Amino acid sequence: MEVPLSGGDVTEGVVRVGDTVRRPMGPQSPAVHGLLRHLERVGFEGAPRLLGVDERGREILSWVRGEAPARPLPPYAVTEEALVGVARLVRAYHEAVSSYEAPEGAPWDSAASNLDGVPEIIGHCDVTPENVIFRDGVPVALIDFDLARPTTRLYDVVTALRHWAPIADPCDRDGLLYGADVGRRLRVFCDGYGLDRDRRRLVLAASMTRFERSYEAMRFRAEHVGGVWARLWQGGAGSRIRRAQDWLERNWDELDACLN
Ligand SMILES: Nc1ncnc2c1ncn2[C@@H]1O[C@H](COP(=O)(O)OP(=O)(O)OP(=O)(O)O)[C@@H](O)[C@H]1O
Ligand SMILES: [Mg+2]
Repeated sequence: MEVPLSGGDVTEGVVRVGDTVRRPMGPQSPAVHGLLRHLERVGFEGAPRLLGVDERGREILSWVRGEAPARPLPPYAVTEEALVGVARLVRAYHEAVSSYEAPEGAPWDSAASNLDGVPEIIGHCDVTPENVIFRDGVPVALIDFDLARPTTRLYDVVTALRHWAPIADPCDRDGLLYGADVGRRLRVFCDGYGLDRDRRRLVLAASMTRFERSYEAMRFRAEHVGGVWARLWQGGAGSRIRRAQDWLERNWDELDACLN
């Protein structure tokens, strides 16, 4: 029996079959499969296992027991413990992936935004609530590695913060995070990750750069790829990025003080 799974908004046709998940593949899938095999080899428990490809050409992944928070976010997903847990999970993933030597020319999704600087790791690059599995209130796994690509550790940190702090205008936040103390949450996340002082100072500037590039990348995909990207854009994705940038600028000094 196939049970449809919805959570994110990009991949259509994700289903659960028993203890497996079947997902349509894309150009990036061979690269992602190499990554998942590495994570299994080094014994990283915070990612699904790749089990193969089914007769309909879909990838077969292990079902990770637990749940990904849906919108509106439930109370367990907005606690400081959850925030620390996500930060530690991202750090543990970075440690596990740091020994991965990806094949030359692997077909990562490279149309998405990136930061300057020599890539350090294959980042997850999409650490949203929908892509983190919780068990008993504790984040235990990252799923959905379709956007993984060579990047810096800081890119994953600022992407996670965009969603989990969140770095967003209050009007675009989930209800329970409307009045969140974002400065404090930035600090809690950076401490949980163990971000060193030099990189901590770069978090706000890197967030701004990422916003700028994500805006352009999303607009490009909406115009040239269409489909779900066009729908996301029509649904206001670009305006939300612009509002987040304005909010970040208005609150810069206060947030910066929390990080230094
Ligand atoms: N291996 C897994 N174990 C447990 N749950 C999963 C797993 N894979 C997917 N899910 C559930 O299905 C939902 C959708 O899966 P997934 O994130 O892979 O696709 P998507 O979100 O549609 O894609 P995208 O994020 O690109 O829009 C997740 O949010 C999660 O709730
Ligand atoms: Mg997803």
